[in-house]
Amino acid sequence: MTQWSPHSWRMKPICQVPDYPDHAALEAVEDRLRTHPPLVFAGEARNLMAGLAQVAQGKAFLLQGGDCAESFAEFHPDNIRDTFRVLLQMAVVLTFAAGVPVVKVGRIAGQFAKPRSDDNETREGVTLPSYRGDNINGIEFTPEARIPDPQRLLQGYAQSAATLNLLRAFASGGYADLHNVHQWMLGFIAGSPASDKYRGLAQRISEALDFMAACGVTPDSVPQLRSTAFYTSHEALFLGYEQALTRIDSTSGDWYDTSAHMLWIGDRTRQPDGAHVEFCRGIKNPIGLKCGPSMTDDELSRLCAVLNPDNTPGRLTLICRFGADKVAERLPRLIRAVERAGAAVVWSCDPMHGNTVKSGTGYKTRPFDRILKEMKTFFEVHRGEGTHPGGVHFEMTGQNVTECLGGAQAIVEEDLEKRYHTHCDPRLNASQALELAFLMAESLRAERMKDAGFAA
Ligand code: TRP
Ligand code: MN
Repeated sequence: MTQWSPHSWRMKPICQVPDYPDHAALEAVEDRLRTHPPLVFAGEARNLMAGLAQVAQGKAFLLQGGDCAESFAEFHPDNIRDTFRVLLQMAVVLTFAAGVPVVKVGRIAGQFAKPRSDDNETREGVTLPSYRGDNINGIEFTPEARIPDPQRLLQGYAQSAATLNLLRAFASGGYADLHNVHQWMLGFIAGSPASDKYRGLAQRISEALDFMAACGVTPDSVPQLRSTAFYTSHEALFLGYEQALTRIDSTSGDWYDTSAHMLWIGDRTRQPDGAHVEFCRGIKNPIGLKCGPSMTDDELSRLCAVLNPDNTPGRLTLICRFGADKVAERLPRLIRAVERAGAAVVWSCDPMHGNTVKSGTGYKTRPFDRILKEMKTFFEVHRGEGTHPGGVHFEMTGQNVTECLGGAQAIVEEDLEKRYHTHCDPRLNASQALELAFLMAESLRAERMKDAGFAA
């Protein structure tokens, strides 16, 4: 393998490159970013790696979620807070049900660049460059907005820094107290049409907390109950930005991309000889790899070898996104290839991206039932193969949007137009996301009880 450097990707074939009219201006911005402080500390990325190593060994569970694309327009503390709140509520349910620690990772504080299937978009006979995320160009369908503007990278950096600052404050300042989070959850259940279904589990958690408190295990005596570790992630798509934030960690001497704790490679940019794989192989952060229906066994074995040559557990997370109707057929082959290669990976299920459909009313949407079906099948396949279904990856928001169909609120096609706010793909709203956590918890808990010899 040739020598790696933060810019060695520039010599490789690359996909999904925006067409900047002024390259000098882009370089000037990238130079400017090189002088900006890192957003995360390498030691935090190593802590995440250790958490994910536990997941790879079946001793923990990964919960990753957030917006498909963050936007400048929707930058607001309430939005950050609400996404954080839902993720933590899901985490409590899953921690209880799986009986193992949950590693919490947001798609947040940097998720600003989007891969597109077409370079251009045509509306009513007018063709313009596609929207590629707020870090690149504007979503408005005008020639001016769609021109890539390098200044946006500085705004993306600033928004990421401010978002991360608030998340850190929430995670460590008392807001994430386990008892708080549980209270929010009880509030959710009281207002949910499916409250009967979830009350039993919530009751058990209440009892567990009361029991702990009676034994003297309270947030005062055990500080771990008052705070949590919350990590950030986004797709490593616009590599000029990622390169500018890639620094040598003085404690280890290794390169880290300090724009987020974890970075992932998209299904459209995972060519083994391509630029995105080249960039990611050299940084020491935990790396995600999206695996879609076209991923072959050979490609996957090769990518495992390139991205994780030392087979470090926690380094590589395979984020599977096949679609509810394909997962039963595609996933076993990949699991067997990984097992044959002896590769230590985290298996995570993205039940969103393979289940996007167009509604009769013209909206891109995702049916809740299909999302649930892909997730359930993912768990069953792993059960059959004797491997650990390590985690889940959702596109979701804390807001009460109407972008995905179904769920207990029973969102129907006519509802989609009411609060369809996404800048890219349809997201689960707060109730749908929490409901999925409860439904996942039911299966996780049933299996655990079975394994432990209890009747479920
Ligand atoms: N620190 C533990 C953890 O993160 C317990 C905890 C505190 C927790 N606050 C939480 C768990 C909120 C889930 C959500 O797992
Ligand atoms: Mn998406």
